Amino acid sequence: MERGPLSTLVLFVNGKKLEDAEVDPEVTLLTYLRQKLRLCGTKLGCGEGGCGACTVMISKYDHTTDKVEHYSANACLTPVASLHGRAVTTVEGIGSTKTRLHAAQERIALAHGSQCGFCTPGMVMSMYTLLRNNPRPTMADVDEYFAGNLCRCTGYRPILEGFRSFTTDAATGGSCGRSDCCRKRGKGCDIKEMNGEVNGEMNCEVNGDVNNVNGVTDNISHVLYDTEEFQPYDPSQDIIFPPELKLHPEWQRQNLVFRGPRVSYFRPSSLSQLLSLKAEHPGARIVVGNTEVGIEVKFKNQTYPVLINPTNVVELTKVALTKEGVAFGASVTLSVVEGTLRRQVNSLPEYRTRIFTAILEMLRWFGGKQIRNTAAIGGNIVTSSPISDLNPLLAAAGARLTVRSAEFGEREIVMDQSFFTGYRRNTIRPEEVLVTVLIPYSQKNEYFLGFKQSRRREDDIAIVNAGMRVRFLQETAVVERLVVAFGGMGPTTVLPLMDYEGRSWDSSLLETGTSRLLQELPLSASAPGGMVEYRRTLAVSFFFKFYLSVRGRLSEQFPSLVAALTEEEQEATKVYRYTTPRSTQLFQTVPPGQSALDPIGRPLTHASALQQATGEALYVDDLPRFKGELYGALVLSSRAHARILSTDASDARRMEGVERVFFAEDLEAERNKTGCILLDEEIFASDTVTCVGQVIGLVVAKDQATAQRAAKLVRIEYEDVKPRIITIQDAIREKSWWGPWTIHQGDVEQGFSASPHVLEGEMHVGGQEHFYLETNAHLAVPRCEDGGMDVFSSTQNPTLTQQLVARALGIACNRVTCRVKRMGGGFGGKETRNNSVSLPICVAASVLKRPVRIMLDRDEDMQITGTRHPFLGRWKVGFTAEGVFTAMDVEFYANAGCSANQSLEVVQKAMLSMDNVYRCKNRRVTGYACKTNLPSNTAFRGFGGPQGMMFTEDMVSRTADFLGMAHDELRRKNMIDSGDVTHFEQSLERCTVRRCWDDVIAQANYHTRREAVERFNKANKYRKRGIYLLPTKFGIAFSDLSLNQAGALVHVYTDGSVLLTHGGTEMGQGLHTKMIQVASRVLRIPASRIYISETSTDKVPNATSTAASFSSDLYGMAVLNACNTIMNRLEPYISKNPKAGWDKWVKAAYLGRVSLSATGFHKTSGVTGFDFEMQKGIPFTYFTYGAAVTEVEVDCLTGDHSVLRTDIVMDVGDSLNPALDIGQVEGGFTQGLGLFTLEELRFSPEGVLLTRGPGAYKIPGFQDIPREFNVSLLRGAPNPRAIFSSKAIGEPPLFLASSVFLAIKEAIASARAERGFDPLFRFDSPATAERIRMACGDALARMATTDTEDTSKPWSVTV
Ligand SMILES: Cc1cc2nc3c(=O)[nH]c(=O)nc-3n(C[C@H](O)[C@H](O)[C@H](O)COP(=O)(O)OP(=O)(O)OC[C@H]3O[C@@H](n4cnc5c(N)ncnc54)[C@H](O)[C@@H]3O)c2cc1C
Ligand code: FES
Ligand code: FES
Repeated sequence: MERGPLSTLVLFVNGKKLEDAEVDPEVTLLTYLRQKLRLCGTKLGCGEGGCGACTVMISKYDHTTDKVEHYSANACLTPVASLHGRAVTTVEGIGSTKTRLHAAQERIALAHGSQCGFCTPGMVMSMYTLLRNNPRPTMADVDEYFAGNLCRCTGYRPILEGFRSFTTDAATGGSCGRSDCCRKRGKGCDIKEMNGEVNGEMNCEVNGDVNNVNGVTDNISHVLYDTEEFQPYDPSQDIIFPPELKLHPEWQRQNLVFRGPRVSYFRPSSLSQLLSLKAEHPGARIVVGNTEVGIEVKFKNQTYPVLINPTNVVELTKVALTKEGVAFGASVTLSVVEGTLRRQVNSLPEYRTRIFTAILEMLRWFGGKQIRNTAAIGGNIVTSSPISDLNPLLAAAGARLTVRSAEFGEREIVMDQSFFTGYRRNTIRPEEVLVTVLIPYSQKNEYFLGFKQSRRREDDIAIVNAGMRVRFLQETAVVERLVVAFGGMGPTTVLPLMDYEGRSWDSSLLETGTSRLLQELPLSASAPGGMVEYRRTLAVSFFFKFYLSVRGRLSEQFPSLVAALTEEEQEATKVYRYTTPRSTQLFQTVPPGQSALDPIGRPLTHASALQQATGEALYVDDLPRFKGELYGALVLSSRAHARILSTDASDARRMEGVERVFFAEDLEAERNKTGCILLDEEIFASDTVTCVGQVIGLVVAKDQATAQRAAKLVRIEYEDVKPRIITIQDAIREKSWWGPWTIHQGDVEQGFSASPHVLEGEMHVGGQEHFYLETNAHLAVPRCEDGGMDVFSSTQNPTLTQQLVARALGIACNRVTCRVKRMGGGFGGKETRNNSVSLPICVAASVLKRPVRIMLDRDEDMQITGTRHPFLGRWKVGFTAEGVFTAMDVEFYANAGCSANQSLEVVQKAMLSMDNVYRCKNRRVTGYACKTNLPSNTAFRGFGGPQGMMFTEDMVSRTADFLGMAHDELRRKNMIDSGDVTHFEQSLERCTVRRCWDDVIAQANYHTRREAVERFNKANKYRKRGIYLLPTKFGIAFSDLSLNQAGALVHVYTDGSVLLTHGGTEMGQGLHTKMIQVASRVLRIPASRIYISETSTDKVPNATSTAASFSSDLYGMAVLNACNTIMNRLEPYISKNPKAGWDKWVKAAYLGRVSLSATGFHKTSGVTGFDFEMQKGIPFTYFTYGAAVTEVEVDCLTGDHSVLRTDIVMDVGDSLNPALDIGQVEGGFTQGLGLFTLEELRFSPEGVLLTRGPGAYKIPGFQDIPREFNVSLLRGAPNPRAIFSSKAIGEPPLFLASSVFLAIKEAIASARAERGFDPLFRFDSPATAERIRMACGDALARMATTDTEDTSKPWSVTV
């Protein structure tokens, strides 16, 4: 085969045939689509199969069944070479704004499911594939298809709502279920009519009476979009499968050979060819889904010169039903395994398929749909990962493997303990090929269960998983054989010896089994993955669940011998079940009489949603390549604090295609200095590195692959420098900080001495990775004539980028233009930290006089650009017996990382937010920004506010617990009102927090549900619920007074069209849409006549960063100002001919030589910033308020939790656009839910970030959002201090997600109280499964906790 001619790849993309005789086997489909075919709709979000941004549909024709199969796949992992004879459909192939939209594209856009839009093409393609396979799916099908797709902006609800319209559940969840429901009529809800006709259970506002809060029953709408605008879905319009593919069966049978510069790729068509290839190349990798090999190559620096694709070998692809079980060819994909086992479960007696049922349950949580569609069963077994989800089940089941080699022929291996020989090793020899996997049927007297606990339920690898099987002697409850196999408990799948033959299935077996497991499953503190005590606890908790489940089954069989399970015990055996999500959104309609043309207050669709849904929207890396363009790859520090002894780039420079390698010496020392406020950073580290991930150099090469490979060849010699400060505790020890700053109110000492009660506490709130779906991307284009630079950047702050680039190049700002079309999310992470990436490429572009581009890989972005600040809070509170706060003293320590960046302001914002919504006469708050050797931490939605408020809420809830008082009563008693002052003496006007609070109580039916939760907790031992009501207040304005200004520019052209520009950037939040709405109202023209092209420093100079939730307020006023100028100039023409209309007025004004271009400017009045030295100032122009109720359920044996329901009432003044504002509420809340429950940054003691991608770092997925999610915008609360009486909304709702955290804590407290543990306990954020389980505390957790001191170095530290 090797000497044969090279093959030509035949592939259809969007119906078009491609033939490529020069395919490089290393190239993924994603790179091929984006770079070779210039189909940039398919996005790169992670490159590791974890985000779904790259989802495409692959179709193949099965000549034996005469059927076309469609499946979704991750283009980032699919080698293009594997697609010979297949058809690929991308988002561009299914519809476009220029021709015809596909219904999936239209519905996600119109339902407001696309904010930044970077995830949207992937979402569309998952839905499209589902519809191709099933035009009338259920919501459960949608859920299954979307487990592999992430969105960081929307909070998923609007995506689900948009796609719900395709499903059989279309009438439920999102609507009241009535045949004439407003949702279906799309006409707006006649609330009065509904109140009269249907009870609270049936109408859209399920449960709580959300219509009638505060007696407001009119001018309310639920209708964020009109479903009648949706074009009907007509499957017959879908792109047809290329007929040519049906006519060429040989394309699927051919032997193929592709050869690239580094890798040869074979696709043999018989087992003997496969075996001889393997004999010839024992080191060759067999590749099916490439979901392991692809990761090894991309992220673990592995190179495999020979790859063999076995998907044409019949023996490896067939499924056979045998007497003993089902035999799967090793290349059978997991989706096919799933389908086959499901059919068996549905057709065979229950007892025969218990193993299959357990495997199906496990596969439900295995990767995402895209992964299961491509990954093979054999790949999972042969990889032998210690956290494989299948291996523990297969090992416990005694699966049998057939392996073959050319030399030794066939042999059979039983999967047992001896199969796994070490970390990712097993007894299959290098020259052998795994041919089949036989999964046996179970027997009547046999029970089998699988367990998995991961950080996130969907698409996550296991922390611990297990397969457990017990066979009893015929017609007895006496054990014949017990096998348990665990993943996540050592370097291999482990099968502890459980020789309990002859023992009865009773509590003594449980007891001895538990002790045995703990003995046989030791883990040291340094075990990779950490969480040692939790993992041990999980192992025994699983065994306990298994014991109970089996006992339950035995008791049905032998009621006189085996006691039935109590209700409590039955609860312990329950597994999570999917429920269809439901939601409601309520908002105030526009006042009667508002012109139909005027879009203010209406739920206008995001201005570029349709372009985003069709893949037409351009992000930086989608911009066409310039001639001579080069690509940059960064050389990063691998040490946290070290002197650079030498840099050696000789190997990199020798690589073909490398243009130049840059280090600090290539730049004048002064110009190398940079930083957003203090110049305390360097573009290239010159002498000392102060964190892992710091930029030391830049390799510039002809393309990305060359640059990245060359960057890995650069050698740096270091000498460690002391101290190495990683954690906040290290910084406190070394007194390494900026600050402290203090705010005083009243007399704190006096307040404490007069307090009848004083409590003290401490809490840690972990950091959070921004995880915007689009990583940092920049393109620097030098201008030859004037030495200037155009920078196309994914930044929230083009002015800062312009200033820093000018500084680095030694030129004036007027020679640098920074342009931002849109970003795929920012959340604060692209406000300043983007400059670590954009400055090096600008330096290179300027020196080389050629354009240079860079888009960071996800792991690089996560390493370099910092996170939300982890905070340690220490608090002391004084209060009366009645629960009135008398004194508070709080200290914050934030882990700022290695440079000041915005950390000083973040800490100050936390300090200014610490009062949340409570009064107290005597308060002191002190803040420290700890300087450590971590990457510089930075702004993140809320900017320190959420952390500052979290400590206060911890303090408040602990006070209520101490007093034995209801938390709500204590909160209400101390709650602020209009006329009160904050701890920094700002007086509160129009304070609406009590209204939000009361409304959410009514909406959530809070008091009744609280009683139900209490009843539930009394009745259940192993599952507990918590329900929590929480208020918030968020101050609006930049703390630096000078930033509270904004500019806009309006051009009116003679055809009447308007080009609007303002200083703010679009990152998904809908700022451009709102600005168009403002201009539309003032100019009195339809929004469709106004266009915003981009944000650019040459249009609006000196713009403030798009941040602090303040941009609609600032830029809205600037746009208003500019548009008023235009209208004033048009006034004479309007007066002269009032009926003529816009186009004619504009024309007349032009002919009258009137300027139709105007700038607008705004500065916020009434704010002064806060002077910490003088202890005075007015930092905020107003406050945004809200309140939430969340109910959760916790599994006390595993630490798993579900958010059952959240209700939010949010005051956004008179909303400019309820759809966008509700989108911000839901998206902000979901991000907060990640912050407080799921997302955990793990650093090694040496300061290396260990969680560097979606595989290791879990943001919320579809399943994590509240199963019921109701959001109302407070009605009748206009805000006189912002544009058209609106309020800022980007950040304020995030903190409401702490209601989830506190509800979880309440559920745990209930478990602890029952088990004799102190219900007053410290609980740090995030509330991960590990923390929940260990805090629940019980005999199992106690047994799993070793008292002996473990001196080994921990795997990770809390920073
Ligand atoms: C995003 C993502 C999520 C994931 N989630 C999970 C999860 O939830 N649970 C889990 O257990 N795993 C998970 N994985 C791991 C991976 O998907 C599985 O291990 C998968 O089954 C591997 O199959 P593959 O076909 O893609 O393997 P490939 O990458 O194609 O091959 C894997 C290895 O197996 C060898 N191999 C394959 N077939 C044979 C054969 N017939 N004979 C000899 N050697 C062979 C290859 O040489 C290679 O070394 C995930 C991976 C990703 C990228
Ligand atoms: S880019 Fe492919 S899954 Fe993230
Ligand atoms: S809209 Fe989903 S990531 Fe931005």
